[in-house]
Amino acid sequence: MNNWIVIKFGGTSVSGSDQWQQILSIIDKHHKSGYKVMLVHSAFSGLTNALELLLTGDEKQMSFIHNRVFDMANLFSINHEIVNQALNKLNTLTAHKNINPHQEAGILSWGEWVTHEICVEYLKRSININSFDPTQVLIASTTDKRNKRSQVLSAKCDVTHNQSLNEQLSQNLYMMPGFVAKDSDGNSVVLGRGGSDTSAAYIASLLNAHKLEIWTDVHGIFSANPRANPNARLLLHLAYQEAREIAASGGAVLHPRCILPLEQGNIPLHIKNTQSPNSPGTVLSHDYQATKPMVYAINTRHQVTLVSLESINMWHQAGFLGDMFNIFKSLGLSVDLISTSQTNVTLSLDKADNSIDDEILQQLSTRLKQMGTVEVIKNCSAVTLVGYRIRAMADKIAPVISTFADQRIYITTQSSNDLNQTFVVDEDQADKLGRALHEVLIPKDDTVANFGPSWQQLQQQKDKQAPPIIPWWHTASDKLLTIASNQSPCYVYDLETITTQVNKLQSLTAVDKIHYACKANSHPEILQHIHDLGVSMETVSPQEIERVTACCGESTKENILFTPNFAPKQEYIDAIDQGILVTIDNPYILYQWAEIFADQEVMLRLDPGHGSGHHRYVRTAGEQSKFGIPANELDAISVQCKKHNIKVKGLHAHSGSGILDHENWKRIVDYLGSCLPLFPTATVLNIGGGLGIKENPGDTGLDFEAFNKILEDFKSQHPNINIWIEPGRFIVAHSGVLLAKVTQTKWKGQQGYIGLDTGMNSLIRPALYGAWHNIANLSKLSKRAEYTANIVGPMCETGDILGIDRKMPKTEEGDVILIANTGAYGSSMSSNYNLRAPAKNIIL
Ligand code: LLP
Repeated sequence: MNNWIVIKFGGTSVSGSDQWQQILSIIDKHHKSGYKVMLVHSAFSGLTNALELLLTGDEKQMSFIHNRVFDMANLFSINHEIVNQALNKLNTLTAHKNINPHQEAGILSWGEWVTHEICVEYLKRSININSFDPTQVLIASTTDKRNKRSQVLSAKCDVTHNQSLNEQLSQNLYMMPGFVAKDSDGNSVVLGRGGSDTSAAYIASLLNAHKLEIWTDVHGIFSANPRANPNARLLLHLAYQEAREIAASGGAVLHPRCILPLEQGNIPLHIKNTQSPNSPGTVLSHDYQATKPMVYAINTRHQVTLVSLESINMWHQAGFLGDMFNIFKSLGLSVDLISTSQTNVTLSLDKADNSIDDEILQQLSTRLKQMGTVEVIKNCSAVTLVGYRIRAMADKIAPVISTFADQRIYITTQSSNDLNQTFVVDEDQADKLGRALHEVLIPKDDTVANFGPSWQQLQQQKDKQAPPIIPWWHTASDKLLTIASNQSPCYVYDLETITTQVNKLQSLTAVDKIHYACKANSHPEILQHIHDLGVSMETVSPQEIERVTACCGESTKENILFTPNFAPKQEYIDAIDQGILVTIDNPYILYQWAEIFADQEVMLRLDPGHGSGHHRYVRTAGEQSKFGIPANELDAISVQCKKHNIKVKGLHAHSGSGILDHENWKRIVDYLGSCLPLFPTATVLNIGGGLGIKENPGDTGLDFEAFNKILEDFKSQHPNINIWIEPGRFIVAHSGVLLAKVTQTKWKGQQGYIGLDTGMNSLIRPALYGAWHNIANLSKLSKRAEYTANIVGPMCETGDILGIDRKMPKTEEGDVILIANTGAYGSSMSSNYNLRAPAKNIIL
């Protein structure tokens, strides 16, 4: 038996001293069982992202990188000299004018190397650990046929068991950085994002290890992405081939490339959760092989680019496809999926496998145009079913696909080995399609041993101590039924829930002032209630200002924020006349209308460069969004403000809505913080709203502790800066439900429909963003679900859907249907479409 175990930890796991204690106890356990350990680690969390952004020319990242590594050095009590030397090296690496791919790889590797130096230094104090340089043995393959960028920035290595390495490594414990490698000429290359898993697999193969353990912050491989579908189930065992299909189709836990070396060396892989070390996790080995038709996982890959070539010349023409593929080959582009008809070929390029930029796409189009009409379709997603003998499950798949018939399904492909089937759709349809397929294809019980608990169940186990969260409307159901009996359709709100949410925000010790983004819901009593809880208001139109002052009093004006976007000049003049603090989000205003703002205090809304949020329409930063002042204009703006004595009170950024990852606000404070030197009068950072909510009881919501810590850390370095936030959804979403009565039911083939007396005129979110809201039959709350149906409204639009494929009890005309979590952006986005009045608002 071989006596090596390779363990791999990601960036979050190596970024805290508590986490290191856990890593040490895992090492100790393996040592006690007689194994030698090779520890592979990634860069401290956030570093590689920052280095990538730095490479795009975003020089502000340098201060983030400085702060991050000094924070880590302080945390681990490491001499600053190590960090200073590493930073000098980074400065040298980035000093070149035209950076070539090898230099790029050198810069990207810097995060791993600095992490390595700090961690080795820290660990040496408590354990006998040896540093190992993987670039001695991880050498990029010389037979790689992809383009140069891919060869260097997403390199592949050839590895087999290397006995002499075993002999060279005579100690019990080694540690090496992941991601980094060299080419045969000794130049830097990297293994691509997520490449540390691949490093670990390569080294496990070279050492012929007993097993590889990848420790991560998830439980293992799931049947779908749990963030998009909380019903996703943990897969306990997988054959390598199935795992490879899952990883290649977007199962984010593993990098697809890491599986092959393990499979070839027959080395089992255990995926384990650092936060729950005794959970079973997922095991990959040769031991498990499926025997009957089954779908294991439904995955989605975003950022797929399609290329479609239309030409009648391809009909009966020998060599047409060959010529076409030669063009892709010569540009080093690897083709993923393909579908052909007599006059059209459509194929997909997967971003993960290709370094696709606009220049390459332009070259591709120009050359393909000589063969026919070319269309490049960006922002698609591939939804893939992975399993065994999938064709045998067509009877279950077909009805789901037919409900998507009105959406464009650009490509459908099936692998010849019958292990996968893929549908390429527009990015915003993908999660919806994935959920619908999961519902019909993945077992819900324990009849198939391979399926472990669902993500939702695991979350509930984690929250076992906490009381079950029963939504307020459950306990108020009798009252709601009475209201609905004569007032349907109507929104009903519970003010207590708003109080609870505001209290949660008020517990954030690092936040100095809370504003409510009243666009989320501007019902007068709701505004008044929020105001009475001590919250200020954020507005975006003169009408909102008028509403707020009418409900909360003229004196609130001194605390109102006005954050317009592309609004007429007069609106800015009027707001300033009323003494309201205006946020400027366009350089145009400061140059063309400077006289309005001379001698005034203003906020500046900056574009932090990266948007987030539940749908692309609600991501409000980055080049594709119309909001905010771009980074490259800030120097000039700082001069313009001084020239006209425009006093910049603070900087603002709002990067999107429905965000559950606290790192979003770290990026924001770090970015805004790095801009402060240009605006010396600024004393405030308004970090926007966008705080996401739990849609399901099992969902993990925003980690408030981590969120607060990010802000506290920032404030400890900037003690004179006040932090403001301006959430909308977080305050009101859970407080509201939409009640509607069933008008009619219908069956069309296998598809059930439940029609309501209101639809997209009251709640447009499902139609506009594919938003998911919990739907219950309030009249039959205790009855078991019997069938699935689409919940639809009475409007003349196929998109008039409130929920797709919902499990419902037997439902009849007159039943009251409740649509949950609709307190935010429900009523405030409603309309009179078809001249049907939207649901009225009732406060409990
Ligand atoms: N601040 C600014 C500058 C904003 O633009 C917004 C929302 C907020 C704060 C509040 O964001 P919240 O905390 O509510 O996420 N209709 C979409 C949401 C659009 C949000 C627009 N701006 C939806 O239904 O999801």
